[in-house]
Amino acid sequence: MKKELKIRECWDNLAFEYDYKNSPKWFWTNPEAWAREVEDRIDSKGDKILDVGCGAGVISIPLSSRFDVTSLDFSSKMLLQLKRRKEDMGRELEIINADAHQLPFKDESFDVVICRFAIWPLHDPQRAIAEMARVARKKIIIMEGDWHKTKITIRHKIFGRPVYNFHFLLYKLKTGREPKKQFEEMKKYHKTSTSFEKIKKWLENCKVNIKEVDYSIKERVSTKKSKFLRALTGFEEEMFVLVGEVRK
Ligand SMILES: C[S@@+](CC[C@H](N)C(=O)[O-])C[C@H]1O[C@@H](n2cnc3c(N)ncnc32)[C@H](O)[C@@H]1O
Repeated sequence: MKKELKIRECWDNLAFEYDYKNSPKWFWTNPEAWAREVEDRIDSKGDKILDVGCGAGVISIPLSSRFDVTSLDFSSKMLLQLKRRKEDMGRELEIINADAHQLPFKDESFDVVICRFAIWPLHDPQRAIAEMARVARKKIIIMEGDWHKTKITIRHKIFGRPVYNFHFLLYKLKTGREPKKQFEEMKKYHKTSTSFEKIKKWLENCKVNIKEVDYSIKERVSTKKSKFLRALTGFEEEMFVLVGEVRK
């Protein structure tokens, strides 16, 4: 099977994990808190927003009650999951199946383009960011992680691994699914080499000025349970929100 199809299949297989109402997944961070981080950085209510690599819509759904949202992903199962939630929650938003490297919109079609954890899977992030800059009129808001900085401490090896394995066992019992396997399979097909420095460079290459970088976002979006576990195990992942202003 072609590599690109295989990658899509991996994401299709994870559609249930990204469901807005999949509470075991949202054990770690809170979707509404993520949406508030975006909302606080948008100037006007009613702005047109494009969510690139929207998955099953964990940010698109809460934002759709305040903004005019278009959600784009290349996984049809993610989008089907989003469509189900949109219907059962009675939300208005547009769903587009397309590749982030080739956005099917005219220049400056959106006030704001947002992207949460969907830069790292891309095979050509520079091209996708150029597309985001092309279709954005005001801002690009990216939420991503500096995953390469994650340190596995001895405390994590001793206390953390058993705790996390127990969490995944509970997850399996509650949902009947084992996403760890699918994530591991997917990692084989990705370079996962994004970082703040790289994203900043890709944006600047597209005439996007970096207005804000905030690494304290993790404290605001994390649930109490995940903060407790982090304190216990010493496991830390660096994540940030970055706001770029588009210069035309
Ligand atoms: C880690 S998930 C994040 C999903 C969502 N943004 C969220 O925060 O829950 C990455 C998403 O990017 C999508 N994706 C990966 N490569 C893509 C591409 N080339 N074009 C469009 N979507 C892509 C995947 O299907 C998946 O839904």
